[in-house]
Amino acid sequence: MPVTVLASAASCGVTSSALALTLASSRPSLLAECDPKGGTLRAGFLQGQVNAGFGLYHLAAAERVGPEALAQAFASHLWPVDEAGNRKVLPGLTDPAQAAALDRTWPSLSDVLHVLAHDAGHDVFVDAGRLAVASGRLHPTLTPAPLIHQADLVLLVVRNIEASLSLTRHLIEPLRAELDERGTGSSALGLLVIEREAANRGRGYTTHQIADALRTPVLAALPWDASAADFMAEGGAPPRGYARSDLLRHARTATEQLEAVAQRRRIQQEFPVQSPEPQLAGVLQRLTQHRVGRRG
Ligand SMILES: Nc1ncnc2c1ncn2[C@@H]1O[C@H](COP(=O)(O)OP(=O)(O)OP(=O)(O)O)[C@@H](O)[C@H]1O
Ligand SMILES: [Mg+2]
Repeated sequence: MPVTVLASAASCGVTSSALALTLASSRPSLLAECDPKGGTLRAGFLQGQVNAGFGLYHLAAAERVGPEALAQAFASHLWPVDEAGNRKVLPGLTDPAQAAALDRTWPSLSDVLHVLAHDAGHDVFVDAGRLAVASGRLHPTLTPAPLIHQADLVLLVVRNIEASLSLTRHLIEPLRAELDERGTGSSALGLLVIEREAANRGRGYTTHQIADALRTPVLAALPWDASAADFMAEGGAPPRGYARSDLLRHARTATEQLEAVAQRRRIQQEFPVQSPEPQLAGVLQRLTQHRVGRRG
């Protein structure tokens, strides 16, 4: 199963979407809350059940001991969010000042997440929060850059409104370049669109328009569903009809789509299509031009 990182240009529903995907997946799943600006799950969805002695920050000290200590600490800091214990979360930082301690933890944590996804069959979602870019690069402390580099899929979460698109537009090129130079390639990059009543208000963009505008494929879409999303953000009693809510139903479909895209990407990376010889490419180009010309 893939390791999928979710991030954004501005607050727009990254944590709620990542949690919806984690809760909706038909496979064992994990949400790692790795937003360097601090986590909201602890005070929100988990309603303060998890204290500061538990979670991501404590992996930094374990990593300094060694990979085995990190793997053990990781397993003991996962909090179950369903009765069977198949869906878990790694609660995030309680203070943004803790992020600096994680600089050297991210690469090893990435390895652990990939083992969980690829060898233990978990759907792994990473909340990377709002992305900060400095001098055209992902900021080394304000983003969990190594997790983004190594991810099978990197989803920029956007809402289907101009305010969200205009901020996201500036992230696309630096992120693409970063993934090509330091990551698994820019083909990992896609969009997750939160669609707010496009048809009714006549103001929202369609997923096609968003893909065109940002020149990036839309890999998943989630509906605007305030009551289910508020439950993801704030916890408490699930709203009526939660199990069949639009958000969860679409999130389940999205997990299947994401798995299919990641699988296709794995195959393409294992068996890359050879580009034709330059001479052959020239002949093909002339042939196609000729045909277009004759038609015209
Ligand atoms: N699909 C949705 N439908 C309706 N409301 C949503 C949806 N997704 C998120 N929201 C709402 O948007 C608000 C912000 O959500 P969330 O905390 O997930 O955003 P975020 O991008 O993680 O923000 P931050 O960058 O501050 O961590 C919450 O009130 C949440 O209920
Ligand atoms: Mg968040």
